Amino acid sequence: MNASAAVAAAVVPAAGRGERLGPGAPKALRELGGVPLLVHAVRALARSRAVGLVVVAAPADGVAEVVALLDSHGLDGKDIRVVAGGATRQESVRLGLAAIPADVEIVLVHDAARPLVPVEVVDAVAAAVRAGAEAVVPAVPLADTVKRVEPNPGRPEPVLDTPDRSTLRAVQTPQGFRRATLVEVHAKALAEEAAGGTGAPPVTDDAGLVERFGGKVVVVPGHEEAFKVTRPLDLVLAEAVLARRRAADAY
Ligand code: CTP
Ligand code: MG
Repeated sequence: MNASAAVAAAVVPAAGRGERLGPGAPKALRELGGVPLLVHAVRALARSRAVGLVVVAAPADGVAEVVALLDSHGLDGKDIRVVAGGATRQESVRLGLAAIPADVEIVLVHDAARPLVPVEVVDAVAAAVRAGAEAVVPAVPLADTVKRVEPNPGRPEPVLDTPDRSTLRAVQTPQGFRRATLVEVHAKALAEEAAGGTGAPPVTDDAGLVERFGGKVVVVPGHEEAFKVTRPLDLVLAEAVLARRRAADAY
């Protein structure tokens, strides 16, 4: 491996609307402690020595705005590129991947909506790929018991069964991949879609695509602060975590 191959590139899908967060700017541009979620997320990645390049997939009509935003937050010293994202998260990741130079062998994919991921998680995921895994996801055990139901919105839903909680993990990002693996599964998923789909349930993360096409995915410990900002309450929690960090830094 040459020097640049040992350094990972990160793709940051940031083109979502943030419907569940409620009315306002696209979620990645919403502020946490006065700084956009996207800026927090890019900083978290850039802090890792394992990451040499960050490619942001911005809302298609917001590329110039995102470039200006990253510059104005002092991130212009790092190798950060911005491309237009797509209509789905999967498409945004694919478009980001296409902008990564050919000699990069390790790719991380990190949601802009996970602004507070500790650098230790970024490092651990990149290290596991470097050590030979083709796909790595950080994850945490579940606090709640989980039940599978027959979905029946607005009515009581019959329970099918209760998986053994000790075998379940809630999956976070950054997820890490051998670049060739990630490119291949995204291409296969696109081809499948073009052929009309398979009727299989939608895949909601990149590691899920690797599983879908028979690859091997391993889990490393995630972190409770790597949670995704999805609903308004998550933003309240994120503000509290950030305030605690800032107070700790002041001592
Ligand atoms: N994302 C993206 N392109 C899309 C949709 C989502 O890049 N077309 C990104 C989001 O910006 C986010 C990440 O994928 O960083 C995870 O998605 P999610 O939490 O679902 O964000 P949104 O799609 O923005 O939120 P919602 O589903 O509530 O609209
Ligand atoms: Mg979404």
